[in-house]
Parts: sequence; structure tokens; C-alpha cells
Amino acid sequence: MEKVGDLFKSSDWRKEKHVPVIECLDEVDSEEIFTIKVSLGKEIVHPNTTEHHIRWIQVFFKPNGEEFSYQVGNFEFTAHGESTKGANTGPVYTNPSVTTELKINISGTLYAMAYCNIHGLWENAKPIKVK
Ligand SMILES: [Fe+2]
Repeated sequence: MEKVGDLFKSSDWRKEKHVPVIECLDEVDSEEIFTIKVSLGKEIVHPNTTEHHIRWIQVFFKPNGEEFSYQVGNFEFTAHGESTKGANTGPVYTNPSVTTELKINISGTLYAMAYCNIHGLWENAKPIKVK
């Protein structure tokens, strides 16, 4: 049976512009509020046009040794140059980058997913340790 996970592509974000880059500390204290930044285009810029853009990034956390994952956030990027004058004539373009804060009380893995409107689903992961 086909699985939704089969739809996701992954690669080295330094070489592939669609892979979300996860930036945060490698280790945090339990209950410490820390910042995580997830973005695209850190090394190779992804287009941001009406015809070709990143629609959303989602972030999940899966604690080590647990069965289930937890959604951290769902971040939509909804402006890509649209206007009544036509494609790429609008005054605003959302950059596919998000910064948020969270705390965890067990080590695990952060997962980021990004959706390009014409190149589909991409993923990345970063382990994070609670001291
Ligand atoms: Fe793309």
C-alpha cells in the first residue's frame, strides 16, 4: 500500500532548495523555552512567485521511545505577488521562514515539512537532546 510518507522527498539542504532547514540548539534544559527557526533558501534560494512558491511549513516533535508524534505548528505563507493586475504584480510576498518557541521535557526529534506548489512535499529532521 502507498503511504503518505512515500510522497516526501529529502536531500541535503545545502544542495536542494526545497529542503526545510531546522535551526535550534542541539541540547536544551527540560522545560527551557527555546527558539526554533525553520526556513527554505538558506543556501539556494527558492523562487517566490505567483506560479512557484512555498505554501506552508509544518513542524512536529516525536519524543524518543514514544509511539506518537506531536504537531508543534502549522505555518502558512499566503502572499506570492497576486493582485488584480495579474501574477507577480502584487505588493507582498511571504518569505518561507518561520521562527517560534517551544519547550520539551524529553529528548526526541524535530521534523519539518515544506510544501512547494509545484514540487510537492519535502522533509527534514533534527534530533534534540534534553540535558
Ligand atoms: Fe519549488
